Amino acid sequence: MIKDLCVLTGTANPGLAERICAQLGVPLGKVRSEVFPDGERGVTLQCEVRERDVFLIQPTQAPMGDHLIELLLLADACARAGARRVTGVMPYLGYARQDRRESAREPVGARVIADMLGSGRLDRLITVDLHSRAVEGFFRMPVEQLSAVELLASHLQQGLPEDAVVVSPDLGAVKLAERYGALLDLPVAVVHKHRLSATEVSAGEVIGQVQGRTVVLVDDMISTAGTLEAAAGAVLRAGCAPGLVVCATHALLVGPALERLARMAPRRILVSDSVPGEVGALAGVERVGLAPVLSEAIARLAGK
Ligand code: R5P
Repeated sequence: MIKDLCVLTGTANPGLAERICAQLGVPLGKVRSEVFPDGERGVTLQCEVRERDVFLIQPTQAPMGDHLIELLLLADACARAGARRVTGVMPYLGYARQDRRESAREPVGARVIADMLGSGRLDRLITVDLHSRAVEGFFRMPVEQLSAVELLASHLQQGLPEDAVVVSPDLGAVKLAERYGALLDLPVAVVHKHRLSATEVSAGEVIGQVQGRTVVLVDDMISTAGTLEAAAGAVLRAGCAPGLVVCATHALLVGPALERLARMAPRRILVSDSVPGEVGALAGVERVGLAPVLSEAIARLAGK
């Protein structure tokens, strides 16, 4: 057991926190978290954190505001109770997509969230596959950025036809697709995407060879699955082999996502457990656990 380590969780992904603790061989610290009648969140530590190195597991998927406040309240409680250091473990960081302004009348949402986290009692952060690496620069505190890509790629490799091609569903995910391409030793193609609204996108031409090949669509996240559905249409029109493979780190799966994925009927959908989620009757879903990656990082950083 690692000396003075304490792992706590908010309500965002307690299952992942349990799996991390099992991997580390430590018990999950007890916390009471409740919502008061007026909607305020309240937390109480039910374990000793004095002089301990505390890791708070809390991704910020929806409801993002509540999960964020819960994390900040927990960090404050730990600091006031004498924790030696408090690390926020955020396998998914909500608002990271708002990393730049599209027009002069918009905020930089990711910077706002970084400032909120930075003004609280967290000493450092651990995250997984941030939407863009630039977001790390919005924080003054140290950010340890981990990745699920190697883990997902090694699962993908099993049973993947030799003629497969990795496809980025938009220009923003090209670097990610190149990482998958290098790990799987596969060529890369790109779909030209236009976003019409928060839930609707349209896809244009495919740059690269997909004809007759099995397409592996990769992205950092699946939110409404509009991006993937549009990209799937584009690669099918370009003559790819039937039976797509889909791979993404964060499976938010909100709004019409499950319907859209079901319509696409991919042969496999690989995602991590950075956020919890029900996939209902959707076939072919493989959830790859992040506990080994996160527990390795916690063990490496504990006491340092
Ligand atoms: C966009 O830049 C992201 O990388 C994802 O492609 C996008 O946010 C996914 O959202 P949705 O599933 O709603 O299309």
